[in-house]
Amino acid sequence: MLYIVGLGLGDERDITVRGLDAVRSCSKIYMEAYTSLLSLGLDPTALANLEKLYGKEITVADREMVEERVDQVLLEAADADIAFLVVGDPFGATTHTDLVVRAKKMGVQVKVIHNASVMNAIGVCGLQLYRYGETISIPFFTEEWRPDSFYEKIQNNSRLGLHTLCLLDIRVKEPTWESLARGKKVYEPPRFMTVNTAISQLLEVEEARGGSAYGRSTLCIGVARLGSDDQKIVAGPMEKLLDIDFGPPLHCLIIVGETHPLEEEMLEFYKM
Ligand SMILES: *[C@@H]1O[C@H](CO)[C@@H](O)[C@H](O)[C@H]1NC(C)=O
Ligand SMILES: *[C@@H]1O[C@H](CO)[C@@H](O)[C@H](O)[C@H]1NC(C)=O
Repeated sequence: MLYIVGLGLGDERDITVRGLDAVRSCSKIYMEAYTSLLSLGLDPTALANLEKLYGKEITVADREMVEERVDQVLLEAADADIAFLVVGDPFGATTHTDLVVRAKKMGVQVKVIHNASVMNAIGVCGLQLYRYGETISIPFFTEEWRPDSFYEKIQNNSRLGLHTLCLLDIRVKEPTWESLARGKKVYEPPRFMTVNTAISQLLEVEEARGGSAYGRSTLCIGVARLGSDDQKIVAGPMEKLLDIDFGPPLHCLIIVGETHPLEEEMLEFYKM
């Protein structure tokens, strides 16, 4: 059996009781690192805390491993109980549908144990979950690469009066371009996008497109460390949020669409 276990968003204690039982019964534990281990601290102590609570050793599966060695993990799961730990919910922001499909094709049984993810925990800011449109991802712009395909999605959401959840880029264990050219991988230090960077990129795109999806005075909500004790949520016009220090990762951003009175009442608590 392959158990895919959501770890929630706060710390190691966010796992459900059912998830914990599953982990403790498994012979081998993998943990995805590449998407959002950051939210659990990313440092070795975070992993040590998990291992201590779960009473098991954890193998961290970075992006390369997830992409290159999934089949090996699935083969192991054909003969034994294996747990694959996922920060957030297994089908939250980064879906693990691919893993499930591959497992099923190989005849490996899969059991999913859910927990909170950004996609539902974001409800805390007061906007109703079913009034969100398509979620977008904002990648780090570079000199040469400034993709802005998210723009049209925001525009479409805002035309329908819907809110847009923006997930912000995380770069963990990215090989440097020079090292790829030389054929030996050297990794860049981890980077995560702040609310400030996201907004300045969004405004740059808006200016270039000259559209009307949003502007400097559009109401947004900046969110940092969602689900942890020191989460920070601030609502305000885009240009005001540009200067706010949201502190350590992870950050995400919401572009607010049309609001209902109850949503507005909640937002008042977060306004700057
Ligand atoms: C996540 O796990 C915590 C701790 O067991 C639990 O209180 C919470 O309800 C879970 N969330 C979901 C969405 O299952
Ligand atoms: C936005 O909406 C238009 C019209 O409904 C549609 O043709 C287009 O594909 C949509 N764009 C995106 C990126 O979803």
